[in-house]
Amino acid sequence: MKSAIAAQTAFLFLSSILLVACSKTSNINPTTNTSNVIPIGIAFAQTSNVALLGQEGTDGVKIAEKYFNHIGGINGKPIKLVFQDTGGDEAGAINAFQTLINQYKVVGIIGPTLSQQAFSANPIAERNRVPVIGASNTAQGIPEIGDYVARVSSSVAVVAPYSVKAALKQNPQIKRVAVFYAQNDAFNKSETDIFQKTVKDLGLNLVTVQKFQTTDTDFQAQASDAINLKPDLVIISGLAVDGGNLVKQLRELGYKGIIIGGNGFNTSHIFSVCRALCEGVIVAQAYSPVYPSQINTIFRKAYIEQYQREPPQVSAQAFAAMQVYVEALQSLDKKTEINKLTLPQLRTQLNQELLKGRYQTPLGEIAFTPAGDVIQKEFYVAQLKMEPNGIKGKFSFLNIK
Ligand code: ALA
Repeated sequence: MKSAIAAQTAFLFLSSILLVACSKTSNINPTTNTSNVIPIGIAFAQTSNVALLGQEGTDGVKIAEKYFNHIGGINGKPIKLVFQDTGGDEAGAINAFQTLINQYKVVGIIGPTLSQQAFSANPIAERNRVPVIGASNTAQGIPEIGDYVARVSSSVAVVAPYSVKAALKQNPQIKRVAVFYAQNDAFNKSETDIFQKTVKDLGLNLVTVQKFQTTDTDFQAQASDAINLKPDLVIISGLAVDGGNLVKQLRELGYKGIIIGGNGFNTSHIFSVCRALCEGVIVAQAYSPVYPSQINTIFRKAYIEQYQREPPQVSAQAFAAMQVYVEALQSLDKKTEINKLTLPQLRTQLNQELLKGRYQTPLGEIAFTPAGDVIQKEFYVAQLKMEPNGIKGKFSFLNIK
């Protein structure tokens, strides 16, 4: 009976999801308090070179807002997303956080898009005692920023090693590894530390470490230096545009071995950068679109109906972050009527409540460590498969068991 009702609810949701496509970014009156709606702040990049990743987060939270309001919101009261563009830098993220906290009086924030931004903006939420859930921050040290900081995006320390092991499974002869990383970005610096440690722990020879900037477009010098050292594996920690261009230039210069891309490659936007030359790049994943659960089926169908492609990792993580807020608010409201709490009380109690929960999300079951880091069970590795025209591509999941 319960599952029949759930299935019917899912059907009604999916029938209405096309309306999401037409819905505009939510704007609420700055004086809104929690008496009519529950405002949750979304601090993602809508502009700058990080906007494509920010858009994937936005797609995920919008599907979640529609879905959770459709099935009753917080015990009858709707949630309302309040968007603030962070741009791609620290100053933009700080402004967005301040506006969400002080002007829009949000109960909690999801964001920012980059770890680089989180290290600057999250301390503001911490000082104001406003919960923050990172949906794409994967650098080491994010939850440790403070008591009010958690994340649903698994750390590079957990995810990155899967891709190196998958590459070795494809080619057990790999011995010589060249590593590249974007030195102006916190998450990429953190990720390369893990990749380099993994390479050494597996007894491989790290022949060179090459640096670049996320804003670079020309990688000829670093790529040539690395190729001269005859690597049979290249590992890149960068964002989609710089990383994709580096893949392209490595291939154009004649590199034929396996390439691993880090978490910044985890977006379909990379296809249009390296096109046919993206073929074969290996990327570890914290989400599988075919994860067999009811909530993932609902999320995936809604996403495909709207965007005509499989949902990417960051959209699933953003949906999961919203789910954490919604279910923690529901649970808190059952214990203490949240209407009767002041905003500071609500923010603090919500923070305590969300860390205690267990959530069946599209990422699988997740919970949090006391510090606020996500505890997740399932990880995956995918390989980029490009259509012969080099325009369309997909993440093809590998068997890594
Ligand atoms: N995973 C990337 C970061 O943490 C987006 O900055």
